[in-house]
Order: sequence, then structure tokens, then C-alpha cells
Amino acid sequence: MKSKTPSSKTRIAGKPLRQSLTPGRRLSEDDAGASRSLRTKTEKLRTARKKTPSQQRWLNRQLNDPYVAAARQQGWRSRAAFKLIEIDDRFHLIQPGSRIIDLGAAPGGWTQVAIKRGAGKVVGVDLLPVDPVPEAEIIVGDFMDPAMPDILHSMLGGRADIVMSDMAPNTTGHAATDHLRIMALAENALDFALKILADKGIFIAKVFQGGSEKTMLDVMKQNFATIKHVKPPSSRKESSELYVIAIGFKKEI
Ligand SMILES: C[S@@+](CC[C@H](N)C(=O)[O-])C[C@H]1O[C@@H](n2cnc3c(N)ncnc32)[C@H](O)[C@@H]1O
Repeated sequence: MKSKTPSSKTRIAGKPLRQSLTPGRRLSEDDAGASRSLRTKTEKLRTARKKTPSQQRWLNRQLNDPYVAAARQQGWRSRAAFKLIEIDDRFHLIQPGSRIIDLGAAPGGWTQVAIKRGAGKVVGVDLLPVDPVPEAEIIVGDFMDPAMPDILHSMLGGRADIVMSDMAPNTTGHAATDHLRIMALAENALDFALKILADKGIFIAKVFQGGSEKTMLDVMKQNFATIKHVKPPSSRKESSELYVIAIGFKKEI
């Protein structure tokens, strides 16, 4: 099977980032293909023969995904980088000098995009270690650790203009359980954002299916001027993920 390079049929946003990939980094399942160690395609296919059917489906998908190839070519650590690029191209959220917190930052694609787009300071946290991203600071930890808002606030040197979360739990394969777990992460990310956003700040988070749950939506409506849901073109069609974007945090209420 041949790996596709991005064709004229797939319009992929983003410009090359002059930064080398680091082979062998630990990656989340969705994003691993972008910067997986640089084995030859022949070797990958040979290895694929020994994999379980679901592993083989995942590998075939990676080999045929133009975003994975584009991420590698452009120097992004994850294909997920394109989701933030596409969201930001549409809503112009990252401003020169923006102070940004990246929740669930590994392997660092969104952080790279934020830096590349002129953020003044980017700090992040992930359960997994992340290879250093120039000009950003990412620590290992659970964002739900009660000490984390203070830690990230002091790393940032103040309140955040943007709190962004592309966090996903490890999937169980049981759709209802996975849905509950991702929504719990998103709700906790919102709580975190309410503690740390500056006035007029922005919250971006991955949610699932019909968008935000009613309780989460109600909290966002009370605290932000505008709420939008978006499915970026690079988000896989078969995935029920969406992103919620809450703009104009009303810090004083
Ligand atoms: C899809 S990946 C993020 C990809 C990233 N946006 C990028 O472009 O490279 C989701 C990440 O969320 C992290 N995560 C999940 N739960 C977390 C938690 N409670 N605290 C910190 N990170 C968490 C996972 O470890 C995983 O690395």
C-alpha cells in the first residue's frame, strides 16, 4: 500500500515549521503517525503483518492520511496541529503576545502552532513527558491536580488570554463510557479556565457528538459573550469530536 502525499484534492492549511522532528517520542494514538520514528514504509508494512486487525487498521489509516504526511513535511509534531491552524484561520484567536495555556499538550503540536502564530508565552501540562518546544514551557502532571492552576498561573506570570484543551482520555471502546470521560475532561478544563482566564479571554476545548452538554453550555453562556462549535476539516469524519470555542470571558461576574 502506498502512502499518499497531500493531493490537490485535500487543501491543507499551514506553512512549514523549520524545526526537526524527534524520533521515538511517546505519542497519543491520534497523533502518533506525524512524528513516529522514521522507519521506511517497507519496514512499516512488514511490521504491520504481525499486528492485530485493529492495529493494522490504525496503521493503514496513518499511512493513507494526507494530514499525517503534511504534518511530517511541515515539521508539526502532530496531525492535530492542523485542527488548531484551521480553527485559528477561521476565528483569529491567537494574537501577537497572547498568553496561552495548553492543557494536554503532548506531543506539542498545538503549542508549536501557538508559538508560530505569535503567542507571547505558552505554558502547558500533560500526563506524558513532552520534548522541549522552543519558547514554551511544558510540565508533566495532571491538570486536575488542585495545585495546577496556581502552578501554571505562576509559570505564565499572570492570567491567560487563551486556555486550550485538546485533551482526550484513553478510549475504552465503549462509546457511552468514552463520551462521559471526554465530557468530564472538558468540564474540568472549563472549571480550570474560569479560574485562570483574563477578562475577555478565550476557551477552546475538544468535546464530543452534539457539542457541549447542557450544564457545560449553561456555564459557558453565563461566563462568555459568544459560544461556537466547530468541526475543523482535519478532524476525521468518522470521529464524533468537535471543538467548542468560548470567546469574551466576563471575568467580573
Ligand atoms: C490528542 S492529545 C493532544 C495533542 C496535542 N494537542 C498536539 O497537537 O500535539 C491529548 C493529550 O491529553 C493528555 N491528557 C489526558 N488527560 C489529561 C490530564 N488529566 N492531564 C493532563 N493531560 C491529559 C493525554 O496525555 C494526551 O497527550
